[in-house]
Amino acid sequence: MSAHIGVTGLAVMGANLARNFARNGYTVALHNRSVEKTDALLNQHGDEGDFVRTESLQELVDSLQKPRRVLIMVKAGKPVDSVIEQLTPLLEEGDIVIDAGNSHYEDTRRREAALAEKGLHFVGIGVSGGEEGALLGPSIMPGGSRESYDSLGPMLEKISAKYDGDPCCRWIGTDGAGHFVKMVHNGIEYADMQVIGEAFDLLRSGAGIEPAEQAEIFTEWNKGELSSFLIEITAEVLAHTDAKTSKPFIDVVVDSAGQKGTGRWTVVSALELGSPVSGIAESVFARGLSSQRDQRALAQDVLAGHEQQVQVPEGFVEDVRQALFASKLVSYAQGIDMLTSAAKEYGWELKLDEIASLWRAGCIIRAELLDDIMKAYADEDRPENLLFAPAFAEAIAAAVPAWRRVVATAVQLGIPVPVFSSSLAYYDGLRRKRLPAALTQGLRDLFGAHTYRRVDAEGTFHTQWSGDKSEVEAVDTH
Ligand code: 6PG
Repeated sequence: MSAHIGVTGLAVMGANLARNFARNGYTVALHNRSVEKTDALLNQHGDEGDFVRTESLQELVDSLQKPRRVLIMVKAGKPVDSVIEQLTPLLEEGDIVIDAGNSHYEDTRRREAALAEKGLHFVGIGVSGGEEGALLGPSIMPGGSRESYDSLGPMLEKISAKYDGDPCCRWIGTDGAGHFVKMVHNGIEYADMQVIGEAFDLLRSGAGIEPAEQAEIFTEWNKGELSSFLIEITAEVLAHTDAKTSKPFIDVVVDSAGQKGTGRWTVVSALELGSPVSGIAESVFARGLSSQRDQRALAQDVLAGHEQQVQVPEGFVEDVRQALFASKLVSYAQGIDMLTSAAKEYGWELKLDEIASLWRAGCIIRAELLDDIMKAYADEDRPENLLFAPAFAEAIAAAVPAWRRVVATAVQLGIPVPVFSSSLAYYDGLRRKRLPAALTQGLRDLFGAHTYRRVDAEGTFHTQWSGDKSEVEAVDTH
């Protein structure tokens, strides 16, 4: 028996990817540290395709066609290194090791370089779509060498989600590019969920609309420009009633959001790149604040609100919809802008239209909007910022009045809307002719001789603040 691909690590994601390959006609060799998981998969789903049962990595490797393709699906971090360490001595030049977990792209870059020295290909692939996506068709973001994609790409494209028949899988770029793009996808996922949460809070605390009724509103919103997987499942979660208490399900869930770390990684990496992903950052911080339950409990007694009990303006639901759309657009624009910065930093030729195209189906942030984003970047005249693409500039302009009303109302009512408001600040910051950064430069020059540039002359200058305040030309120290 000669299998097309081997999968090691058969927890739900690994098992579902293995089944997806098998259902698509590939022979899949299975391996798991404890053989019980392998047998469970074979017992329950062995009839879905051709599987090869193996009990050791050696057996797994021996069962594969050359060049061998071994997909690792274990917990990100040390477990990946440990499997690679055991696997690589068993492989030959030209074989391909695939890491389909949510690994950090710097780890992927390191592993790719180390395996390349041994003549092996290491391919970090971002896989999005959760458990169901892994089985029925995820969005796949592969990095690694172009050469490895020639052998692996067709298989990945076959098991991927399809949008109008187009596979949601494209070679993203060398080494860690695939995992980087998946990380940014997750950052956008965080922002997407946070803006939905802010809309929910405004509609409930501001307009008094209960979850069941909100479910209908979200269902309606899902028919328009907001149409997306996350809006769709928001309606499902809000419509759900807790069987134990008959309360809305959402009211029996502890309001402290968890995170496995990919959103945080996005922000750390954005800070290093100097990329202003304020919407994503605020959504990571919002999860952090929600988790500080002790401080939040103390704050109930200590911190005054002085909210103004204003009536929400007429047409508030529609205003919130527009503010949600505008803030969402900003998050996508910021995430994509970060990709552009990373491409320069890491020497990746990221094709933004292709990235948007493979996010159109299968992944968690799939949305109607992504088809338009793809088109904007497929245009010869690619926008410097997504918001500058004529269709988006127009759409966001139409939402601005409602967006301002919503943020102002939220501030008056004391409802925190960190992503709605920071996205509006980003939008206004971009548009503003003069920013107070000039004052920052003046202050930096005064206390640290950090120098500044002038609006009316080339060069770098310093004012002799502690002397006669005359200006001298200086070496640029940033
Ligand atoms: C996906 C998701 C997935 C991620 C979860 C949990 O694209 O399928 O992004 O990879 O693990 O969404 O993420 P957090 O625990 O960080 O919220």
